[in-house]
Amino acid sequence: MDYQGTLTIDAIVQDQQIQVSITDTGIGISPEIQYKIFEPFFTTKSLGEGSGLGLDIAKKIIEKHSGKITVESQPGRTMFHVFLPMQSIQEMEDV
Ligand SMILES: Nc1ncnc2c1ncn2[C@@H]1O[C@H](COP(=O)(O)OP(=O)(O)O)[C@@H](O)[C@H]1O
Ligand SMILES: [Mg+2]
Repeated sequence: MDYQGTLTIDAIVQDQQIQVSITDTGIGISPEIQYKIFEPFFTTKSLGEGSGLGLDIAKKIIEKHSGKITVESQPGRTMFHVFLPMQSIQEMEDV
């Protein structure tokens, strides 16, 4: 968001899932690159600023917990949704 704007984080429980949404008011992610943003080392930031690993690592962690992450974006509003099944959290507590 270039150090300005609003970041909103919501969490609800629905259908045996925890759904977390992270919404920002930044420039958005153009449709041309949306399919690439979860790839390791894909970054649009300048050299030394971005690693391109943030979303790759986040997606891998979420998938290890049998969850998924989706994105919807338009200029001025980007939403990431994280879905985590409550079942696997329960299973982890059992370990
Ligand atoms: N909330 C966002 N708003 C706009 N672009 C984003 C957002 N999140 C990710 N991106 C795009 O996806 C790319 C990859 O993101 P990420 O994996 O976190 O790596 P990095 O932040 O190091 O570039 C970013 O460089 C940017 O182009
Ligand atoms: Mg990042």
